[in-house]
Amino acid sequence: MPRPADTFDARRLERLMRRHLAGGWMRGVFAAAGDARAPVLHGPSAARPASAEDLDTAVAAAVAAATAGHGRHTWILDPTTRVRIDARRCKARRLVRDEAALRRMMGGKDRLLRPDRSFALLSVLEILRPDGALDLRAARKYKQVEHFAALCRPVFAAAAAGLDRPLRVVDLACGTGHLTLAAAEALYLEGIEAEVLGVERDGARVAAANEKAAMLPGRRVRFEAGTIEDAARAGDGRDADVVVALHACDTATCDAIVYAVERRARAILLAPCCQAEVAAQLERGRVPVPALADGLLRAEFGAVLTDALRTELLRALGYDTKTVPFAHGTHTSKNLLIRAVAPAAPGDRASVAARLAPVAARARALGVHLRSIERLAGER
Ligand SMILES: C[S@@+](CC[C@H](N)C(=O)[O-])C[C@H]1O[C@@H](n2cnc3c(N)ncnc32)[C@H](O)[C@@H]1O
Repeated sequence: MPRPADTFDARRLERLMRRHLAGGWMRGVFAAAGDARAPVLHGPSAARPASAEDLDTAVAAAVAAATAGHGRHTWILDPTTRVRIDARRCKARRLVRDEAALRRMMGGKDRLLRPDRSFALLSVLEILRPDGALDLRAARKYKQVEHFAALCRPVFAAAAAGLDRPLRVVDLACGTGHLTLAAAEALYLEGIEAEVLGVERDGARVAAANEKAAMLPGRRVRFEAGTIEDAARAGDGRDADVVVALHACDTATCDAIVYAVERRARAILLAPCCQAEVAAQLERGRVPVPALADGLLRAEFGAVLTDALRTELLRALGYDTKTVPFAHGTHTSKNLLIRAVAPAAPGDRASVAARLAPVAARARALGVHLRSIERLAGER
């Protein structure tokens, strides 16, 4: 709990603040020792000097906070510069994150998402605390978004090559949208003009994700509530150049493949999970080793077979495919990502069906059917 300040000189505090904040500031955070939730005052901008009114507001907030015992103030001037003010002692310290400091902060690694270039995203995802420090509790989240953004970068660059309009990226079953926002950030940092759409059936998640997106100026990303099936039916005639589906449950990954192929996507990123459809069809007589039709082996083999058939499907349509780790240090065992990039868009409905006939036959020989193969091969 904050301790009421016994002494502090409001006039000196004001002078100190006016000196340091005149050039503009983004955010002020008023902390007391052991404060988990320090009050925050959002500032005008880092890009322009503060107006007299902005400064008056900041001073009033700082005096009120210090009076209430929140005596350690951090003012974020821009993504690399902060001023720490000790209100009780009326002392200020300017902290600048130079290249060496940023590298140290990133564990000595060359990362894509760094506090200097992705300050807004890392703040919105609560990887940076309000006072601009890294939140160590969010290390896993950071690793996941960083890994995904870095993975997206070359895929987006390849898909955008030669396009004379913004690249369209659709993230199906996007959940909280954290990875959708990371994808939008990768596009922004790469300088690729793009529109990013996240589709998610949970309306509350969509509303929260849109609020986050609104805090990221310059990134064209939005979220819509609905299912993948709704999005496919919507048939607004627009292509999707890159389709993403990460941990979309069970057959939702197959629906995403159908969506992508029907929209002639140039690239597809899939991290499948809970692949139950094929496992349920495995029969002792049809699997290469009888034990594969039992217990956990059945689930594991079913999952691998599902993803192998999905990969075959994509290859048959001309996609270059590779399986890579989805996220380092992940909390899930479903850590495989199928990356598919097409030199040329898959053909029309009839030629897709014809090219998939051998893949459908292979699945039939194993005694299984897979939703995406059946739908694209015209069997369902
Ligand atoms: C495990 S979460 C993954 C979220 C996100 N893609 C990620 O990797 O962080 C799965 C999400 O998919 C959504 N979902 C599952 N099936 C869906 C469908 N057919 N259409 C839209 N959303 C779906 C769920 O509501 C849930 O939010």
